[in-house]
Amino acid sequence: MIITSENNYRELDVWLEGKKKILLVCDDAIRFLKEFTKKLDEVKTAIVQFSDFQSNPLYESVVKGVKLFREEQCDSIIAVGGGSAMDMAKCIKLYSSLSGDGADGAWLRAKAVPNNIPFLVMPTTAGTGSEATSYAVIYYNGTKQSITNENIIPGTILMDPNALKTLPLYQRKSTMCDALCHAIESFWSVNSTEESKKYSRRAIEGVLVNMDGYLANTEEGNAGMLMAAYTAGKAINITQTTAGHAMCYKITGLFQSAHGHAAILCDRVLFQWMAEYTDECIDPRGEEYLKETLAELGQAMGCKDAKSGSEKLKSIFNKLELEIPAATAQQYEELKMSVNPDRLKNHPIALNVNAIDALYHEILR
Ligand SMILES: [Fe+2]
Repeated sequence: MIITSENNYRELDVWLEGKKKILLVCDDAIRFLKEFTKKLDEVKTAIVQFSDFQSNPLYESVVKGVKLFREEQCDSIIAVGGGSAMDMAKCIKLYSSLSGDGADGAWLRAKAVPNNIPFLVMPTTAGTGSEATSYAVIYYNGTKQSITNENIIPGTILMDPNALKTLPLYQRKSTMCDALCHAIESFWSVNSTEESKKYSRRAIEGVLVNMDGYLANTEEGNAGMLMAAYTAGKAINITQTTAGHAMCYKITGLFQSAHGHAAILCDRVLFQWMAEYTDECIDPRGEEYLKETLAELGQAMGCKDAKSGSEKLKSIFNKLELEIPAATAQQYEELKMSVNPDRLKNHPIALNVNAIDALYHEILR
């Protein structure tokens, strides 16, 4: 359920009814949310804040969060923040119904036990879509752990456009690109369905319509982009992401480009490339279906076909004036070996190492 911040968070008051103690999982962006923190000061429900985690959160931090949730006898969870805060809260919710103290990564191996802990999230960026998905990412012993469980989809999403007001411009641009890339990649994913495509179309339209207002930091633009990012999250919750996301992680690793920045660097090249190589289609629905899908994607972007859609994506990227990193020969070697072939399985076109290498040479300088 989506609730809004209207009338001094009236719907939040309704949600809080009957709850005694909340675990508030938040990053330090919360100090900028003056109206929201003022509201929390006023409510009768007790609040225990948990912020002892970093971006790319660790399993050990989740264990600390669960410990606090239990010791304080909290009965519900609110997450406020970007993807990391939401992922933390998702894992705290999931693991809080498991036995033991989670030592030595035990909860990562344990069978999940669904619970009904009320779970509300308030995104402070419009991008990850984590508020709509059954996915969370945490790290254990330096290794990425992808958690997928229906039970971690937040039951209530509080959309407060004011939460986006202090977002720095670069983060504003890159998170928007993340949302747009989720919608685009979901659309061409081999896992797409009529329903996921409907969400993708709606998200793309939402990004395009609200882009200028959002970049100018208007309340209407911020509200529209929050909804677009959420809707793109609904799309990837069905399909997962594809090659653009599989290829963008190493760009972030090598050049520190923000995640959404790295994703649009990849997708702006991939879209056109895919339209040219539909004969290498591996989507079981066949090449004609893929051609049609790419054309529909172009149309979802307000263009007549795939080619002009891909050009529009490039022009959006250019307009945002995001940097194109320059890679050395050695970095290109690292990049082409970085893509886990397993993660390309959602992509509708076969990509071997040579193709990936050629793509990275187009993506970067
Ligand atoms: Fe993403």
